[in-house]
Amino acid sequence: MPEAIETLVRDLALALRVRAMYAADHASAKQAFKRLFQTLQGLLDEKKEVRIGAVGGELVGEGLRSDRTNAVSASLVRLLSSRQIDLLIFQSGVTAEALGAFLDVMAIRPADLKEEGIPAILSRRGVTRIAAGQIDLSGETAAPLPADADLSAFYRGGVAIISEVIREFSAGNRAQVSLAKEIVGGIVGAVEKDLAALPLLATLRNHDDYTFTHALNVGVLTVAQAKSLALPERDLFAVGIAGLLHDLGKQRIPPEILGKPALLTDDEFAVMQMHPIYGAEAVRNVGTVPDLVTTVAFEHHLGIDFSGYPRLGRRWTLNLASRLTTIADSFDALRTNRPYRSGITIEQAFDIMRAKRGSLYDPELFDNFERLIKSLAGAGKGGGPG
Ligand SMILES: [Fe+2]
Ligand SMILES: [Fe+2]
Repeated sequence: MPEAIETLVRDLALALRVRAMYAADHASAKQAFKRLFQTLQGLLDEKKEVRIGAVGGELVGEGLRSDRTNAVSASLVRLLSSRQIDLLIFQSGVTAEALGAFLDVMAIRPADLKEEGIPAILSRRGVTRIAAGQIDLSGETAAPLPADADLSAFYRGGVAIISEVIREFSAGNRAQVSLAKEIVGGIVGAVEKDLAALPLLATLRNHDDYTFTHALNVGVLTVAQAKSLALPERDLFAVGIAGLLHDLGKQRIPPEILGKPALLTDDEFAVMQMHPIYGAEAVRNVGTVPDLVTTVAFEHHLGIDFSGYPRLGRRWTLNLASRLTTIADSFDALRTNRPYRSGITIEQAFDIMRAKRGSLYDPELFDNFERLIKSLAGAGKGGGPG
């Protein structure tokens, strides 16, 4: 129930703000606390836990709409990030005492937190069923790499199907949407099952099927990011489809430009820069595709400061999925052997991309992605550093 989680965000933001101004026994603080506790209990009656993440200046969580213009969400994001918290988890059975102690701890000014940090203070104070801290990937990367054979078969099958989907799509056949959904289901499943499988997926390269391999890689890498940000499964799915289909518009770019074994001339690049517009046009009216696909097809080369393309006179906050896709897209393009360039190392790819951290790429999402890929690369090498 989306309204309930939005009510929780509002009540939480209010309770924290009031608690920062008044002592816990002040009438306003008591009232705000009571409301928050009721809303939280209502939500936890229905599900085992509620997660709220603060990522890239935005609140994320199941049923939460992405909305940076919302002042309440924005104030909560600011409060959480000033205390280095990017994930809050409330579990059923949380007591009023624990919630009160949590608000007390959150009311400590960041300057007074010193080295200890919120998670340590919460556990020192015996707060259970409320967790606050940074998204931790360490547990998820500990799993051993699965057998190569299964994954590469899944991958090859995926490339074949997505190439079919894209061809059919550009021919105006919408029936293939269900195939795309199936592929993304496979991606989400694979990522859920074992994040450590990703380096393997991302290193499989295929020159001939570049566009299709790229589509699949970007789908995988956006889902992996979304998963690392604790987005709920339904959102993983939409983000995966959007990542998978981000370059749909390339079907309308002439093959001699698309596959040119050298850097493009200015004129050719101008043609290439049409692909986000073509892509958005192609999916805009397909009812069975989430709106997010259109958004990401259009936004994925804009950059958070709109320094990319297409050039526009107006700015807005790019969708979270577009920001994730831009990062995955660049990384895969740099890592994969292209007609005009051979693939480079992970470290080199990040060195190149870092120059545009904050202009093309959302800085916090960039850092998260770098952490994610490096921890996975480390796990893929058998746990060694690097
Ligand atoms: Fe693109
Ligand atoms: Fe791309």
